[in-house]
Amino acid sequence: MNGKNDADEPVDKDRRNFFKFLGVAAIAAGGIGALRGVLENVSPPITSAFSSFPTLLLYSQAGKPIGTSDLKVNNSTIVLFDYPLQNEPNFLLRLGDSSNNDQAIDPTTVTIPATGKTFKSSGGVGPYKSVVASSAICQHLGCIPPIIHFYPPSSSSYPGKVHCNCHGSTYDPYKGFAVVTGPTTHPLPNTVLAYDSSKDQYSVTSLVGPTIYGHSSDLSGGSLLPSSTYTEITTLTPTS
Ligand code: FES
Repeated sequence: MNGKNDADEPVDKDRRNFFKFLGVAAIAAGGIGALRGVLENVSPPITSAFSSFPTLLLYSQAGKPIGTSDLKVNNSTIVLFDYPLQNEPNFLLRLGDSSNNDQAIDPTTVTIPATGKTFKSSGGVGPYKSVVASSAICQHLGCIPPIIHFYPPSSSSYPGKVHCNCHGSTYDPYKGFAVVTGPTTHPLPNTVLAYDSSKDQYSVTSLVGPTIYGHSSDLSGGSLLPSSTYTEITTLTPTS
C-alpha cells in the first residue's frame, strides 16, 4: 500500500508542534507551576497516522468478539465496522449461494480499470471461507451506507452485488469487490480478515487494492479509533 511512508511524517510533525507550543506556554505562564497547569489542561494532539496497519478483533456492541454464528449468510442488513480510522466504514459479509448456503470465496486477481494494475484479493475466511470485507466507501465519489450496500443473491435488483445508489456503481464481492459497472473506475479496497479457528473469532489486519476514496493514504487523514485492540460492529437498514 502507498500509506506507510506518508504516515510517518505527520506524527513527528505533530509531536514537534506540540512541544513547541508547550515551550511557548511555559514562558508566557512564567514558571514550572503554571506549566503543570498547562499540562493538566491540554492533551497532546491525536495522532492520526499509523506506521503500519493495526490488527483489531471484531467485536459486537455487546462487547463480545464476533463468532461465525453472529453473522447471517447473505444478510440483507448492512453490517459495518470502522477501519483503519474512525468514520471509515467497512462491509462485513458472509456470502452464500442462492439457497443461502455458505459459499467459499476463492483468492482472485482484481484489475483496477483506471490504471490497468492488479492486486491479489485473499478470498474468504472462517470455517466455510465465506466471510469477506471491504471498504464501504464508494470509489466513485465517496457515498457511504446505507446508500451503498450488498444485495443478496435472492434480490431482484443487483443480485449478489454491492451497488451504490448515488450514481449506479456496482461491485462483485464474490470476486474481490471488482468493478462490474461504472461510473467507478476503482474496485472497493479489500479489507483483509484473519480467522482464529480455535476461538471462532475474526480480526481485521490490513487493506489491499486501491486507497480508500478521499484519502491520500489509508493510514492517515483521520482520527484514530477509540481502541487499539478491537473495532465494533454496527448495523444499518439498507435503502432500496
Ligand atoms: S458515489 Fe457511488 S456511484 Fe457515485
